[in-house]
Amino acid sequence: MAHRTPVCIVSTDPGVDDIIAILFALASPELEILAFITSFGNTDITSSYKNILKAYRAVARHLEEFPQDSSRFPNFNPETKPILACGSVGPLEGDLHSAQYFHGRLVERVQSDGLGNISERHPDLDVESNGSEHPQLTLTNLSGLEVASHFIRNRPPRTITYIALGPLTDLAWLMNDNATLIRDRIGRIVCMGGALDVPGNTSPVAEFNFFADPYAVKKLLIQADIENPTLLPLDRFLMLPLDITTLHELPFPFYTEKVDPAFETSAKPSDPANKSPLTHFTSSFLEQTRVVVLQFGKDAMELHDIVAMWCAIENPPVSNGCVDTLAAGWSARTRVFDIERTGELTRGFLVVDRRDDGSAYAPGANRAEVQAELDKHNAHHGAWESTAVPALVETEHAPTAVPANGVMVWGVVV
Ligand SMILES: *[C@@H]1O[C@H](CO)[C@@H](O)[C@H](O)[C@H]1NC(C)=O
Ligand SMILES: *[C@@H]1O[C@H](CO)[C@@H](O)[C@H](O)[C@H]1NC(C)=O
Ligand SMILES: *[C@@H]1O[C@H](CO)[C@@H](O)[C@H](O)[C@H]1NC(C)=O
Ligand SMILES: *[C@@H]1O[C@H](CO)[C@@H](O)[C@H](O)[C@H]1NC(C)=O
Repeated sequence: MAHRTPVCIVSTDPGVDDIIAILFALASPELEILAFITSFGNTDITSSYKNILKAYRAVARHLEEFPQDSSRFPNFNPETKPILACGSVGPLEGDLHSAQYFHGRLVERVQSDGLGNISERHPDLDVESNGSEHPQLTLTNLSGLEVASHFIRNRPPRTITYIALGPLTDLAWLMNDNATLIRDRIGRIVCMGGALDVPGNTSPVAEFNFFADPYAVKKLLIQADIENPTLLPLDRFLMLPLDITTLHELPFPFYTEKVDPAFETSAKPSDPANKSPLTHFTSSFLEQTRVVVLQFGKDAMELHDIVAMWCAIENPPVSNGCVDTLAAGWSARTRVFDIERTGELTRGFLVVDRRDDGSAYAPGANRAEVQAELDKHNAHHGAWESTAVPALVETEHAPTAVPANGVMVWGVVV
């Protein structure tokens, strides 16, 4: 068995692909889940929290009926129960855009509970979040921030992976609370988010998690220099944008063949009578996802958060934190970009400087502003020009070593 990767946080806004990623984590012996921090995002905070409880109850029911399957869920009923805590209810700044009213390619998020309206369509799968006792989870009124800080402070340094499947808001609050603690002690951060060289899935240009809180992305990844302690340790930050995650799909005919022969769409809702409780649960939320993807001419769902979870499972923290220590089959590239926080059309858009004229202009520089600055000083185009306007971004090239700052990377399965 690979050595265990303690997972401090699965920071999540559980919609359909988050829940599948979490089921994947429960089935992965490599992982030890310390905590789930639920946040706004795919749905509101209450539904987020309840969706974790729903997933846990579905697995519990399944194992009651099929105890022989317990070896398939090594992270269910562990000696130490993961903590379930609430994180952010909205972004650092700006408007709360819950995803409920989005349509289009944001297929898994079109229903209000984040799981294809499962709570109304399948009341048997709904849960109350009124209790304080739970057989497999430690419920708490402590904030997600307190829970995450506790583990990061008390576990051995550089051993915890922070898996961000939702907006980066909670991580921004953690950094705000004690940046030194995070910089010194976090093992790795694996983040599903962004769209670099591909279209968005929320808007034409933005991926949902970065769209939901572009302020957190700006603060954590971009608005920082070497002196700025709000900067994440980017040498330990792995970002999985749509560029890579979209390539991985679950074709529904494959799901039908391997998991549930009776799987259809929400027009023919899952019937618990002839299938296991876990299969009934997954089919009950996937059947609505299928309705939406079929409208787009596709009979498959994209596995964004699952790819991030897979990356975290395969790439436990290493003591020197460097990205060039990824597992066989994975590689990472440094990318430089900025993010649009507001914008009439472009909230959450990742701006990559694709101009190839680095000798005259600093990457990311605004030519109009550079020219105005030159005019003001009655200066001509020259060597210093590229620093006339402080650039927020750097040239894009594959570095031989990981630069200390201002860059980020993403994992690629090859
Ligand atoms: C959710 O499902 C219920 C029961 O099938 C239905 O009445 C309701 O309209 C659905 N809500 C949405 C937002 O689709
Ligand atoms: C939560 O409330 C429901 C009904 O409102 C009840 O059936 C259930 O037992 C309660 N759960 C706990 C853990 O108290
Ligand atoms: C959280 O606080 C509420 C209200 O004080 C209480 O009813 C509930 O039992 C608490 N839950 C836990 C897990 O401590
Ligand atoms: C941050 O955490 C470290 C390590 O636990 C601690 O020594 C330091 O006092 C904390 N700083 C703040 C500002 O709380």
